Amino acid sequence: MFSDRKTSTELGPGTVRRETFAAYVSDEASQRAVQHYIADLSLTNCSVHLGGINAAIARCEREASPQALLVDLTDAEPAATKVTRLAEFCDPDVVVLAIGDRNDVSLFRNLMRAGVRDYLVKPLPRALMQEALNDLLGISAPVERVLTQRLGRVVTVVGTRGGVGATTIATNIAWGLANHKHRRVALLDLDLTSQACGLMLGVSTDNALREALERPQRVDSLFLDRAMVPCDQRLYLLAGKDDPDDPIKLAPEALPHLISLLRKSFHYVVIDAPRTGNALMRQALHLAGDRAIVLDQTMLSIRDMLQLKGLLEEPREGQENFLILNRVGESGKEAITIKALEETVAMKISATVPFDAPNAVSASNAGIPAVSGAGPVGKALKNILEALGGTLLEPPKRWWQRLAP
Ligand SMILES: Nc1ncnc2c1ncn2[C@@H]1O[C@H](COP(=O)(O)OP(=O)(O)OP(=O)(O)O)[C@@H](O)[C@H]1O
Ligand SMILES: [Mg+2]
Repeated sequence: MFSDRKTSTELGPGTVRRETFAAYVSDEASQRAVQHYIADLSLTNCSVHLGGINAAIARCEREASPQALLVDLTDAEPAATKVTRLAEFCDPDVVVLAIGDRNDVSLFRNLMRAGVRDYLVKPLPRALMQEALNDLLGISAPVERVLTQRLGRVVTVVGTRGGVGATTIATNIAWGLANHKHRRVALLDLDLTSQACGLMLGVSTDNALREALERPQRVDSLFLDRAMVPCDQRLYLLAGKDDPDDPIKLAPEALPHLISLLRKSFHYVVIDAPRTGNALMRQALHLAGDRAIVLDQTMLSIRDMLQLKGLLEEPREGQENFLILNRVGESGKEAITIKALEETVAMKISATVPFDAPNAVSASNAGIPAVSGAGPVGKALKNILEALGGTLLEPPKRWWQRLAP
């Protein structure tokens, strides 16, 4: 559940706001012990708090988690459940050391299984604690040893025909995961001709994504810290602009490199993909864990869906394709029925979103995603979030199973 990576001085995207290390202890003796350790090594960007694991969970629900955490499990019952809850909310790359007052082998085993780096029983012998904190912070071992790492999930959204609502769905999923599910989310606007995500979220963007796609060698966590536009506390947008007179020269390794970096610091990477069938769109589909295709009940949409289907390779292990039927009700009696549509494209509809022009359009004009509202579009989008935003630790289920009430 937690990363086994040692923390390093390199910061991930959005991590200028992240602390290097924070300790949440339950008693003053432990507080002093950790404070001494920090002072001895003159460590900066660290903090020590009372409140134990409950205070750590509350902090990670609210804001980006530190890169390394010490949590005190004293009085946290059941301790393993608390650790699971912490893992749900903290960033994917966080490393965790636990302390507590129970000298219990089964607790130790459960914590190790959960990905906790070590468990120390209080009172904390100074040398032992120093050794454990050195290990946690990568101080004694300069060479990083990556054994396992929890990585964020990639959700690529692509529309069939133009204007079907792909950007609406992508921005609402990203905003909802960040605000309703408290996940850290990176939204990539790969539709470089329209740059609509920024417009829908009411933020202005620059051309950083273009640079990232052309010069991947420049893209590291510091580049992302500067380039990603904060939309709110947990949602960051990366966008850029194509120029018909000077089209983007996509470096083939650029998107995989960018996504692999983002997955280390965000729980979700949501991609608004172009529907042009170009290399960018194919890569975005290939790299995704969840591929959401947005369509509506028109012939045009079905025709494009059949073409698009040819681009979707067979899902790999853990990969899901699903269809979101948007604008339901817009075409009235002229609409192609869901049954006929499913038969024609030989795929099941996973979720539906009703047509609701006043809500959808006024939300996008105001830069406030419809998922924040109580209208029918907001409600339908929240159902999609429930399916997507379930705990990252759950074994993957098929989309429509997760959507079932
Ligand atoms: N369920 C809905 N009900 C009513 N209007 C909607 C709905 N979903 C999207 N819209 C509206 O349809 C318009 C087009 O939506 P959007 O830009 O998301 O489509 P798109 O597929 O991304 O288009 P493009 O092909 O330009 O990328 C927007 O004005 C949006 O507010
Ligand atoms: Mg769009």
